[in-house]
Amino acid sequence: MKIGTRSLVFGVHQFIWHPITVYLAWVNLYGKPTWKEIVCILVHDWGYFGKPNMDGEEGLKHPELGAWLASKICGPEYHDLILGHSRFYSKINGKEISKLCWADKLSIKYDPWWLYLLRANLSGELEEYRENASISGFVKREESHRFWFKKLKELLVEQSKIEGKKYGDKLIDSSKTELNCSI
Ligand SMILES: [Fe+2]
Ligand SMILES: [Fe+2]
Repeated sequence: MKIGTRSLVFGVHQFIWHPITVYLAWVNLYGKPTWKEIVCILVHDWGYFGKPNMDGEEGLKHPELGAWLASKICGPEYHDLILGHSRFYSKINGKEISKLCWADKLSIKYDPWWLYLLRANLSGELEEYRENASISGFVKREESHRFWFKKLKELLVEQSKIEGKKYGDKLIDSSKTELNCSI
C-alpha cells in the first residue's frame, strides 16, 4: 500500500478523524460550515490515495482529486476552496490560499500528540515529515518526535488563528507562510 493510501486509511489524514478535526477548526475560525463546505472538508485530502509520497512531486498534487469531486457535487466555485487548502500547491500553481487552508492547519489543535504520532508512525509519514523539518531547519532530527509535534502544533495554531481571522479582510500572502505544511 502506498504511503498516501496508508495516510488516508490509518495515518495522519485518516479519512474520518482528520475531517472531524478540520470541521472543529472551521467552527472555531468561521462558525458552522454549510453542507457544501462540509463536503469539501470531507474530501479535500482524498487525492492522497495512491500517492507514493506526501510532500514530493506526486503528493503535492493531492488537492486535485478533491477539487474535481467538490466541483461536481457542490458546483465549480468550490473547486478552488479545495485547491487552495494546500499552501505548497497554491504557491506552485499561482493560486490563492483558501479559508479551508487555515481550518486544515488549525485541525492539529484537536489532535492529541499520542494519536497523531501513533498514526504518523503506523503509516510511515513521520519519517518524511521529520526529514523535511530537518532540511528546512524547523526541528533537528535529534529532537524527539513529541518535541517536533509540540513545535508544529504551536506554529500551526498561531498561524491559523492570525491568518484565519484576517480571512475576508485582505488577501493572504502565501509567501509569508511557507513552513512545514504536511497536514
Ligand atoms: Fe491536504
Ligand atoms: Fe487536510
